[in-house]
Amino acid sequence: MWRALFWLGVLWLGIAWALTACASDAVMPVGSGSAAPPGTPLAGDAANGKTKFAASCASCHGIGAKGITMLGKSLVGTAFIQNISDADLVAFIRKGRLANDPANTTRIEMPARGGDSTLTEQDLVDIVVYLRGLQK
Ligand code: HEC
Repeated sequence: MWRALFWLGVLWLGIAWALTACASDAVMPVGSGSAAPPGTPLAGDAANGKTKFAASCASCHGIGAKGITMLGKSLVGTAFIQNISDADLVAFIRKGRLANDPANTTRIEMPARGGDSTLTEQDLVDIVVYLRGLQK
């Protein structure tokens, strides 16, 4: 009798565990807007980031970074932005992406630093902080 109750308990715990696992999957699906990007968030000045973005990036990515067809992709709510850490995003903007890079999806070049060599490292961090603010 007690043995049966014990196994019933084990079974119940198993079901409870499976349900919790499913429930947490449902709350944070991969690529959803609510999931935080990986890595440590960088600190910076979003207002400066907005000014620099408008001057150096918006010509291709649009005001508000929503993207412009045949110029620059949207930087709001995309899987790329959601799945990259702040540090890696800074590194990406510093380097850009050549048109013949296998990761390039449009065959249009993303110039290093958006083609603006006057952008400082802190400007790049500030742009990333600004872009993160747009995701909310
Ligand atoms: C001359 C146009 C141009 C300028 C200026 C420009 N970009 Fe881009 N950017 C692109 C293009 C085109 C792509 C898409 C490349 C591809 O298809 O993989 C891109 C891609 C990106 C991506 C990756 C998006 C993704 O989903 O793969 C990020 C992030 C990005 N740009 C940020 C910036 C920032 C920040 C600036 C300003 C410092 C900037 N870009 C300036 C053209 C531009």
